[in-house]
Amino acid sequence: KTMPWVDVSDDDSKSNLKRKNSSVNGHRHHEQGGRKAKKRRHMMQNGDDTHEHHGLAGGSISSSVQNGSSSNAGPSNILTGKAKAIQLQRRDLPIAKGQDALIEEIRKNDVTVLLGETGSGKTTQVPQYILESGLARNGMIAVTQPRKVAATSLAHRVAVEQSTTVGNLVGYAVRFDEKSSHQTRIKYLTDGMIVRELMSDPTLSKYSIVIVDEAHERTLRTDLLIANLKTIQKQRNGPGDGKGKGPTNPLKIVVMSATLDAEKFSKFYNNAKILYVRGRQHPVKIYYSAQSQQDYVDAALRTFFQIHTDQPPGDVLIFLPGQEDIESLQKSIEIYANQLPKDSPMVQICSMFAAQEHSQNNKAFSPAPPNTRKCILATNIAETSITIPGIKYVIDTGKCKEKQYLSKIGGGGFDTLLTRDITKSSAMQRSGRAGREGAGVCFRLYTEEAFNKMSLTSEPEILRCSLTASILNLKCLGQNLEQLDLMDKPDEESIGSALKTLWLLGAIDKDQKLTEAGRQMAAFPLEPQHACAVIASKEYGCTAEVLDIVSVLSASSKLFFDVSEQRDAVAEARRKFRHATGDHLTILNTIKAYRDIAASENKNTRREWCRKHFLNERTLFEAKDIKEQLVVTCKRVGLDPTLSAGDNADPVLRSIGHGLVANSAFLQPDQTYKQVLGQTIVKVHPGSAMVDKKVPAIIYDELVYTNQVYARGVSEIPKSFFTTVEAFKQRRA
Ligand code: CDP
Ligand code: MG
Repeated sequence: KTMPWVDVSDDDSKSNLKRKNSSVNGHRHHEQGGRKAKKRRHMMQNGDDTHEHHGLAGGSISSSVQNGSSSNAGPSNILTGKAKAIQLQRRDLPIAKGQDALIEEIRKNDVTVLLGETGSGKTTQVPQYILESGLARNGMIAVTQPRKVAATSLAHRVAVEQSTTVGNLVGYAVRFDEKSSHQTRIKYLTDGMIVRELMSDPTLSKYSIVIVDEAHERTLRTDLLIANLKTIQKQRNGPGDGKGKGPTNPLKIVVMSATLDAEKFSKFYNNAKILYVRGRQHPVKIYYSAQSQQDYVDAALRTFFQIHTDQPPGDVLIFLPGQEDIESLQKSIEIYANQLPKDSPMVQICSMFAAQEHSQNNKAFSPAPPNTRKCILATNIAETSITIPGIKYVIDTGKCKEKQYLSKIGGGGFDTLLTRDITKSSAMQRSGRAGREGAGVCFRLYTEEAFNKMSLTSEPEILRCSLTASILNLKCLGQNLEQLDLMDKPDEESIGSALKTLWLLGAIDKDQKLTEAGRQMAAFPLEPQHACAVIASKEYGCTAEVLDIVSVLSASSKLFFDVSEQRDAVAEARRKFRHATGDHLTILNTIKAYRDIAASENKNTRREWCRKHFLNERTLFEAKDIKEQLVVTCKRVGLDPTLSAGDNADPVLRSIGHGLVANSAFLQPDQTYKQVLGQTIVKVHPGSAMVDKKVPAIIYDELVYTNQVYARGVSEIPKSFFTTVEAFKQRRA
């Protein structure tokens, strides 16, 4: 059965694709599209060229210095074939030529800004160069990443390059997962983790060098880190001890970024030197879709098979916004790949996204077997953070998921992940992935017009995300966000809304001072709302139950698969877990049931049991790990993690209610729910246990925005609860 090809505008009349395509879509259209596209292609390539030759202050570090050092073949002289190959690969990276010059610059300057195209070797090599040069003395080298997956994946890679396993010389630290030891010298960590470390070590004294990587992403935590590093450096690099010795533990900062917004970082750090490492970008031919595509997953599917049947060998990288789309596309590709003629090349699908464990993500790096085309489905993790070798074709859906705080409609202090259009800069990065090893092709599943309308770069997170957790962390450091020397300052409204949430949680008092409860909340690696619930559970005597629920809510995937096509079957299968008060206690029942099964049954039975009940077992595994860590924190702050209310639901609901007090709604006379704070009418999500039930008051985990505003993770709460919150808060404060 022939695939209905997606209508991509075409710029090369000689390509196979063109011939095939025109036979489906008609000549005239393509000849027109062709001419236009040619002009545009030049524009894009020139665009990329400008990108490459943009002479920045500090100039290219790659031209003057010859091959870094050949003695750099790794820690061992007797190398196995594979290790040797890895060392050869290292030496062949664009950055290798600039090694000596780069180290010299870092030695001379307190702050260095390093720009380089994705895949040139910044993240994996620079920390190793610094280590080998002795610049870090006895301190550690921190490399920060906005994304958990990047931090763990790159740490694994660098450990291999250093002929060791992760957790020794090279380690990582991400929320709920840390692998490092006293031997660790290079530590990859999320920007969130290093900001947390500030609380126990306000000058980051363990680190001699902090590399702020992927700075162009401008995540909230990266911005906070950049601001704090400036102050810390002043403290640590001060005039020294007065006895002729320099500062005892000076700090060096390296800011690394893939795009050209280096001046802003440089200016912020008193005109720090900007270095540029030239990458090897081969030409990438860009195809736009002739029409806008409503269903980007379907369009990606068609385009993939168009490439697979018409185009020469080469792996395909498809950018999708999130896990659900990845999983659905993977299924569709598998179905169609099985129907391909016997003699056509095979298809191997890999995927890469945050919630997937390392070993699965890592499969994307293995070369495909002979006569097989590898197809990698990834989120924007593969845009600049992680470079997968072998890519010749990129399919860009033009979508990503972005954190957004919807304070106006009452976000309750939580960020929502919204699928939205990418920026021009992302589109360029995505297409660039096709041209790393040779000429490549990028299929944009959107029109040229849509591309032109995209904004150039995205707004820094600090201007659009909830500040609740960050302000709480800063309060623990004795800092006020308003007084921090930030690259961009958030507006008063979002600061105000975060302060209000913190006050509602009892984390600050009416003078905005941190309360004891607030300090305890900050000790938990949780959203303040969840930490608040855990702390409230002490009073209600149900810490064990609240920890179970919060662990599931903090996992990276949902516990219940949302299979909307089979909603009745799903409801039937899950009936026995269902709790009359709603979703939170339903989660608790489910964990308890799973625990019983897990105690007596083997792995396969357990897996089958989860499948039968449409449960994500990965979430249950993750939640178990998370709970173990929360138990440690509980003990540290004087909470008994085993304190249990047995089968009594009310205390559990009340504890959770303390955390979700801003996420509450009351039933109106017309049977709709209206937010207690805010004016929005919310509907109960169809996947909720509470969907058909009307109760006077509800709390919810989050709002999702489709054509309506839906509350997800909904439980009933006694209306009287709200009058006790205030008294409770005062008693605790
Ligand atoms: O940071 P930047 O984008 O400049 O490059 P990098 O992440 O240091 O990647 C350098 C090289 O290491 C790329 O060619 C990657 O393909 C390769 N790499 C790999 O082969 N396997 C990994 N697990 C990670 C990186
Ligand atoms: Mg990198």
